[in-house]
Amino acid sequence: MTVSSAPGKVYLFGEHAVVYGEPAVPCAIERRATVEVVPREDDHVRVRADDLSLNGFTVEYEGRTGDDPDVDVPRPLVEAAMGYIDAAVRQARAAAEAPAAGFDITVRSEIPLGGGLGSSAAVVVAGIDAATRALGEPLEKRELADRAYRAEFEVQDGQASRADTFCSTMGGAVRVEGDDCRTIEAPNLPFVIGFDGGAGETGELVSGVRELRERYDFAAETLATIGDVVRNGEALLSEAIPETDPSPELLADLGDLMDFNHGLLSALGVSARSLDEMVWAAREAGAHGAKLTGAGGGGCIVALDRTPESRTALEFTPGCQRAFRAELATEGVRVEEA
Ligand code: MEV
Repeated sequence: MTVSSAPGKVYLFGEHAVVYGEPAVPCAIERRATVEVVPREDDHVRVRADDLSLNGFTVEYEGRTGDDPDVDVPRPLVEAAMGYIDAAVRQARAAAEAPAAGFDITVRSEIPLGGGLGSSAAVVVAGIDAATRALGEPLEKRELADRAYRAEFEVQDGQASRADTFCSTMGGAVRVEGDDCRTIEAPNLPFVIGFDGGAGETGELVSGVRELRERYDFAAETLATIGDVVRNGEALLSEAIPETDPSPELLADLGDLMDFNHGLLSALGVSARSLDEMVWAAREAGAHGAKLTGAGGGGCIVALDRTPESRTALEFTPGCQRAFRAELATEGVRVEEA
């Protein structure tokens, strides 16, 4: 049996615009997906996925992927999760040159499905890592990130950047611009996350932004402006001392850029009332800045606040189902059991 885990992430800046070649800065957080893989004698793949959400609902799914799962969560989310697992299996088989390899797979995750915290990327990264190790063909991290990106690209009909999968593989803060992916130094950013209990459909949200971009020059300019926000944010991070608590001035400046980034994402139609309410609750409680994270449409916001105030305010916000603090995960994918 091999077990690997990989972290989820928040976007400090740059989701959606990254799909069009602008830079983005996602940061891995200490919420992990764990995938256990046991090779089988035949070529079947059996998947068991428990606790694929933060708030404790359980997905019981057993059988060849593609069978009808008996679940009490929205079907599209389960189908999406199974699609990612299938794609991860195809990548692992290809990487190990074992096209008929069969597996029993168990997935556990502390990351809400489709909530903007990179649940699919974490499952794909941990899944490919565990499966290739199970076949005796472990991958070097850059190749793993590339394979995971290809899996997401396939499931999301070509509408994926490398940001989520690279961040989940490497951990820490990363910078992604097209194919150029790097890890960057970052101070200990005090992330607070609010989760509305829902999820957005990444493919649809990315398509919606694409249509706006094709239709209106100002939508294309909005995406380019997000790129400018990211470059300003990167400049701020590069002046900070890594792995220390950031100064109040730095938090204020990063927060202003997060607020700006949220406004631009709202203009592109990917926010939601629940996300805006959580963003405002955090800001009014004194957060330095707050924005939606990930594809949007529902799911999570991320705020910067060292005090407990934003979290408390989010807990009392009607649209917020759960609020928590998230540490930067300095470790990306890791072997939990060899
Ligand atoms: C989704 O987590 C982030 C998007 O930018 C899509 C992507 O980068 O693949 C919306």
